Amino acid sequence: METKILHNMINILTLTMLVLLVSLSQAKTSKHSLKHLRIDLMHIDSKGNFSRSELLQRMTRRSHQRMIHLSRKTNNLRQHDSKQATGAQTDAYLGSGEFVMDIAIGTPSKSFPAIIDTGSDLVWTQCKPCKRCFKQSTSIFDPSKSSTYKKLPCTAKLCKALPTQKCGKRNASCEYLYGYADQSFTVGNLASETFTLGSQSVKNIAFGCGNNNTDGFDKSSGLVGLGREPLSLISQLGFKKFSYCFASLNLEKHSPMFFGSLAHLNASAAAGPTQTTPLVKNPIYPSFYYLSLLGVTIGSTKLNIPSSTFALNKTDGTGGMIIDSGTTFTYLEAVAYNAAKKAFISQMKIPVADGSDIGFDVCFKPPKSASLDLPKFILHFDGADLDLPESNYIFHDSDTGLLCLTITASAGISILGNMQQQNFFIKYDLGKNKLSFIPTQCDKL
Ligand SMILES: *[C@@H]1O[C@H](CO)[C@@H](O)[C@H](O)[C@H]1NC(C)=O
Ligand SMILES: *[C@@H]1O[C@H](CO)[C@@H](O)[C@H](O)[C@H]1NC(C)=O
Ligand SMILES: *[C@@H]1O[C@H](CO)[C@@H](O)[C@H](O)[C@H]1NC(C)=O
Ligand SMILES: *[C@@H]1O[C@H](CO)[C@@H](O)[C@H](O)[C@H]1NC(C)=O
Ligand SMILES: *[C@@H]1O[C@H](CO)[C@@H](O)[C@H](O)[C@H]1NC(C)=O
Repeated sequence: METKILHNMINILTLTMLVLLVSLSQAKTSKHSLKHLRIDLMHIDSKGNFSRSELLQRMTRRSHQRMIHLSRKTNNLRQHDSKQATGAQTDAYLGSGEFVMDIAIGTPSKSFPAIIDTGSDLVWTQCKPCKRCFKQSTSIFDPSKSSTYKKLPCTAKLCKALPTQKCGKRNASCEYLYGYADQSFTVGNLASETFTLGSQSVKNIAFGCGNNNTDGFDKSSGLVGLGREPLSLISQLGFKKFSYCFASLNLEKHSPMFFGSLAHLNASAAAGPTQTTPLVKNPIYPSFYYLSLLGVTIGSTKLNIPSSTFALNKTDGTGGMIIDSGTTFTYLEAVAYNAAKKAFISQMKIPVADGSDIGFDVCFKPPKSASLDLPKFILHFDGADLDLPESNYIFHDSDTGLLCLTITASAGISILGNMQQQNFFIKYDLGKNKLSFIPTQCDKL
């Protein structure tokens, strides 16, 4: 067990680079007819030369902030408190995320890193001329240097799909304002361009050419929305399936993402059975991917949690659990979390330790050279049990020697974060509204 913990420690704590390379197999290049695509993701902090404790701090801060924004957004349907601040409406949400993909746009094409976000839809990058742009590592896209750039008219279907738009003179242009729940936003023209994804070009992808962008999109040049609504890259490319496999956060490892016919797992790579659960839609927040979480088991104890704890209310949009690419940790509605915490602590045979300095609620200080049996942590979904490997719910901080639980509390909405998804091949079948997961060593794909 001790070696297992050490191994986990190395996996998680060595943190963080998922080298980004875009590779893919051949496919047609006419408009929206990509058959399949593979893109390798990297972790957002992989190029930052951060120390381990800085990485942990950054990750924890981003994760908690995202949870707070998500929780506030889905609990306060009528309050829209970021509205006064930016004029932005909050139907779209949230600037930051954890994984980055390289995309290239224009003719000739310019490449830039963009955060992937399963919680929003618009694809956008910073554009010249800048009224307000944040610092980015690549040069800012200049539409006047691209022969395939076209502003979309206000009458375009995708202009109408924007939560907030304004029409230019004689409807000639579609001006968008896309706000996120953390009050960050991008403002610019909705345009169409040729996108190059790996070596394949796709024409006429609608994207936000943003020339007034708030900071908050750290280490990227924009965002790729992968939500369920029409503006997202997934919807525009017409793919009915996509999948990803987040490698344990480790410097040398990439995390592949697959679209279309490549989204199936090659059976020989599976390290366990495939489990499948419904993908649920919330009519109030239609971009998000909701799952039906029914219960939790800690060790051998199935927790006694009221069934309403994780229920999604489709009338006011509150509650439920989303699966998210941009939240690091998992958050359970407080009633369930408190029951899980209590059961976990009582089943650990050692006293709790204070982990607040490193941002965790439940930590333990294992005695040196003792072997520890950690209680299991199982999430019961409708039709599928996610029996988490230890490294997916325990963080070993080598600086302090603490073992900390990476599942914590939220209010209202619950979130399945990406640390809990690591080393599972996760497939979204949008045609059948099903999500499948298969234990897989992601860096071997
Ligand atoms: C990374 O950080 C270390 C320590 O802060 C420093 O010595 C080193 O020069 C940095 N490397 C790069 C490439 O910036
Ligand atoms: C950017 O957009 C916001 C929101 O519409 C607006 O309040 C602000 O004045 C704009 N900034 C610039 C420099 O145009
Ligand atoms: C602009 O488009 C709207 C519908 O999107 C239409 O009602 C209006 O007549 C158009 N205006 C002009 C000047 O074309
Ligand atoms: C499946 O994976 C195995 C080994 O990982 C490989 O040899 C085989 O070619 C793969 N098959 C397909 C169809 O990709
Ligand atoms: C769902 O939300 C509506 C509106 O807030 C409320 O009236 C209703 O009681 C809620 N349903 C449940 C089952 O909590």
